[in-house]
Parts: sequence; structure tokens; C-alpha cells
Amino acid sequence: MQLATAAARLRRDRAPRQAASPSRPAPTTTGHVFEVEDVSVRYGDFTAVRDVSLTIPRNEITALIGPSGCGKSTILRTLNRMNDLVDDASVQGTVRYNGEDIYAPDVDPVEVRRRIGMVFQKPNPFPKSIYDNVAFGPRLNGERDLDGLVEEALVRAALWDEVRTKLRSPALELSGGQQQRLCIARALATRPDVILMDEPASALDPIATHKIEDLMRSLRETCTVVVVTHNMQQASRVSDWTAFFSVDVDDEQGMRTGELVELDRTDAIFTEASDPRTEAYVTGRMG
Ligand SMILES: Nc1ncnc2c1ncn2[C@@H]1O[C@H](COP(=O)(O)OP(=O)(O)OP(=O)(O)O)[C@@H](O)[C@H]1O
Ligand SMILES: [Mg+2]
Repeated sequence: MQLATAAARLRRDRAPRQAASPSRPAPTTTGHVFEVEDVSVRYGDFTAVRDVSLTIPRNEITALIGPSGCGKSTILRTLNRMNDLVDDASVQGTVRYNGEDIYAPDVDPVEVRRRIGMVFQKPNPFPKSIYDNVAFGPRLNGERDLDGLVEEALVRAALWDEVRTKLRSPALELSGGQQQRLCIARALATRPDVILMDEPASALDPIATHKIEDLMRSLRETCTVVVVTHNMQQASRVSDWTAFFSVDVDDEQGMRTGELVELDRTDAIFTEASDPRTEAYVTGRMG
């Protein structure tokens, strides 16, 4: 598996593909973790999302927003080959991670997912103890200081205070919001390069939501974050870049296909969007 070598060889700064208007600040020059080119995803014969091209800047937070069914989760899953595990899903186009095509035949999807962690909308703890959930990845990687790693991940995920006295209790006994933070801790424990989050705060109360948003911001030091959210305030509070997706409806065929409308600096998306569909959505007039 050449992922590490190729990624190191190919890692370099490139100009972002998405356009910024002349009046807007120049896009980041820190380089990209992902370059997605003409990606379409089908479930069987149904094209869920088509011709998506975008870049994800390194060490920043990119939010994916748009109405239900526009393909946000589908696109998020293409970034770490999670769609491989979905029946009938097929991906066309190119997804480059640190310059390497992650769909190339010699790439091991398990290795891709080790570097590019994921937190799902619905918490999915393993039927193990709290400790063993967080220690799972580091243990597989042969890490030694499991206690230290488990504590650090639980602190960062804003769960430590609530579970420190019951680390050996079953994870499934935690509340839904606690299970979600546990899954975030589990994803952090392997120190991923990228973390993909699909509506990570939808089961959380406002206090935990703010803690998770703080966590996302702090993750930028070491990690790149891509987050799907339906919460416009959250997108504007937390993300540096925002991609707006919409659904193209073909009434004759009865087909609804997701597409990327625009990707720009979050403040530009929320205050001076290029496309009227984006403005209508972020101001609550559509979707
Ligand atoms: N496993 C699947 N099999 C068949 N169709 C699917 C599957 N997963 C998603 N779809 C369809 O693909 C389209 C995009 O779905 P996706 O879950 O990516 O949307 P989304 O933008 O994340 O929506 P939401 O905001 O409701 O989570 C939808 O029409 C959905 O019904
Ligand atoms: Mg979704």
C-alpha cells in the first residue's frame, strides 16, 4: 500500500479550484487535503449526486449544508470510502487525498479510514465498555499508553467528567448524547489526519454542542474537519468554508439529483452568496 509514500511525495500547496470573487479575500494557500473531481454517486440506477468538484483545505473546517436528500452524507462518505460498505453504492470520478487517488486499485480502504476518521449522525458505540470503545483503535495500532490516550480523547470530546468513575461500564448504558461524544472520542483516539462528521451535534444538548464546536476549532491544529450540519448557526459559528448543495428536480423523470451549488468562505456564503439558491437557503426562504 503506497498511501503514505505517495501522500508524502504529493503533499504540496496548490491553489484551490473553487472561485472567489475578485472582491473576496484570496482563498487559503495552505494546501488541500482533498481534491474531488467530477464525482457522481449512484445507488443502483439512481444517481444521488452528480458531478461534484471541490477542494477541502488543510487544517480548516469545511461545512456541507443543503436540504435533506441533496447528497451531503453521500459526498462525505466518498471521502473515506465509506460508501464501499453501502449496498449498491458506486462512485465515479476522482477523490484525491493528499494527492493520491483513494479509489485506485492498490489502496487499502481500511488504511484510508484509519487516517480519515468518521463520526456518524446516529451514535454507534461497540457493545463494549466505555474504555474499550475509546481504546479500540489505539490497541489495534499497538499503542502502549492506552490509559493516557483514553483520558485525553474523552477530555477532548467533553465526556471525561461524566464517565471517569465508570470507564468499565457498558457504553450502551450511556445516554444518546453521551454515546455520540464517546464516538467522537473513539474517532479522536487514533489521531486521524481528517475527521468527517455527519451531523455530530444533532443528538446533543446546547452545552455539549458548544463543547463539540470548541473541539472542532481546536482540532484544526492537527486535523482537517469536514462536517455536515443542518444547523445554519453552527455552520456559521464553526466553519471556515461552506459548501452548499441543492437538489435538481426533473419532474418528467421524477428524479431528484443532488449537486454542489457553490463552495466559498463561510462568511461569503452567509452574507454575499454568488447563487440565489444559496442565499434563499441560508436565509431560510427555501429548503
Ligand atoms: N443506501 C442508500 N440506498 C439508496 N438510496 C440512498 C441510500 N442512501 C442515500 N440514498 C439516497 O441518496 C440521496 C442522497 O442521500 P443523502 O443521505 O446523501 O442525503 P443528505 O443530504 O445527507 O440528507 P439528510 O440531510 O436528510 O441527511 C437521497 O435521495 C437518498 O434517498
Ligand atoms: Mg445526511
